[in-house]
Amino acid sequence: MLFLSCVLFFLLLGSSREQESEEPNSYTECTDGYEWDRERQHCRDINECQTIPDACKGELKCINHYGGYLCLPPSASVISDSHTDHGTSDFQPPVDHGLDQRPNPCPSGYQLDPHGQGTCVDFDECENERHDCLPSQECVNMLGSYHCKCPDGYRKIGNECVDIDECRYRYCQHRCVNYPGSFACQCEPGFQLAANNRSCVDVNECNMGTPCQQRCYNTYGTFLCRCNQGYELSHDGYTCTDIDECSYSSYLCQYQCVNEPGRFSCSCPEGYQLLGTRLCQDINECELGTHSCSEQQTCVNFHGGHQCVEKNRCQEPFIQVSENRCICPGTNPLCHDEPGSVVYRYMSITSDRSVPSEIFQIQATSVYPGAYNTFQIRSGNEEGEFFIRQINNLTAMLVLARPVIGPKEYVLDLEMLTSNSLLSYRSSSVLRLTVFVGAHSF
Ligand SMILES: *[C@@H]1O[C@H](CO)[C@@H](O)[C@H](O)[C@H]1NC(C)=O
Ligand SMILES: *[C@@H]1O[C@H](CO)[C@@H](O)[C@H](O)[C@H]1NC(C)=O
Repeated sequence: MLFLSCVLFFLLLGSSREQESEEPNSYTECTDGYEWDRERQHCRDINECQTIPDACKGELKCINHYGGYLCLPPSASVISDSHTDHGTSDFQPPVDHGLDQRPNPCPSGYQLDPHGQGTCVDFDECENERHDCLPSQECVNMLGSYHCKCPDGYRKIGNECVDIDECRYRYCQHRCVNYPGSFACQCEPGFQLAANNRSCVDVNECNMGTPCQQRCYNTYGTFLCRCNQGYELSHDGYTCTDIDECSYSSYLCQYQCVNEPGRFSCSCPEGYQLLGTRLCQDINECELGTHSCSEQQTCVNFHGGHQCVEKNRCQEPFIQVSENRCICPGTNPLCHDEPGSVVYRYMSITSDRSVPSEIFQIQATSVYPGAYNTFQIRSGNEEGEFFIRQINNLTAMLVLARPVIGPKEYVLDLEMLTSNSLLSYRSSSVLRLTVFVGAHSF
């Protein structure tokens, strides 16, 4: 093409001149690398490869060309002068036939070496901006031509660069996401990309700011929250809420259940203390010395409290004979209708005792031969909560007949009548029993 256009130029020039002048010899001058062929009447190419010994140095191979010759590396592909298209544009070397330069005798993609003697060297189309690569494409110069290269991740289809969908042939363990020019592997929630950027490894969420309020257990791909004893997991799966153990059962504590964060405890009413974890036990203030009784008083403990009683409870006409005992001397006329002696005793029972229930045994202390004893409740049993069961002529049992609920206090006069029919002897002694009924069943 190049040479053809050269020849055409000369021919046109010649023909125009022909009309001006009839001098055929004026066309016998040829440019470098050509010689005048008289027979054919045109400039003929000189085969320098044959006429110049060692036209190319070293390994380079000599290739004859119109108007000159090429020294090419042995590996270089020989480009024929006929138009070759390597998928590149057929840009011409920068020759300008109409201007001061001589016509380019080199094949397409080559130019005369400005430093050499008529050798053709590659023309860098990229450097000289003589290419038609798209802005997105990279111009790569090649020997005799150039190539429009697509960026990484793009494939050339026609003249266009089209994004390659790497996901169609690249491996990702979980998910592949194609991007313009690239791709990325992604992992499902709970996993993170391994160092190879392909596979996914489990994330230990428990080590990352503990999402769980109390206990965290990492599992493959996720994690589980658990709660400490006494707590239960909320619906959100993260937080723990206190379990109200007291609401589960009314038998957890003997008296009162107290819910606490993560646990529960039992409490006891005033006058009681915890026995173990759930039972209540009466505090014996008299033994502990925590009572407030005076020197003249005796401390009497009962369920839930205590009472201070006067050491001398004997009232006229009674005379104290010992701490718990008063007598009414038979010599005193005022004692005629009174029992011969009064003995004080105290006892305490709990509320809600099952009935009938034997609560106190009365035992005659003085035994007279031939005497016969009978027992009765002389006073304090107006409501009929108690009765006496006589076991033999020396022993009787006080029995609770009806359930009683405290706090309550009964003062029962239990009378023992001793009689001896032979001696016409008869006497009475009273056991003044104070029965405290506690407020509770314990
Ligand atoms: C994984 O991707 C990161 C960030 O893109 C990169 O720095 C690293 O070299 C890649 N590793 C491998 C093994 O490809
Ligand atoms: C019990 O009474 C009988 C007669 O009723 C009498 O013989 C007996 O001695 C009395 N027993 C005692 C232990 O006093």
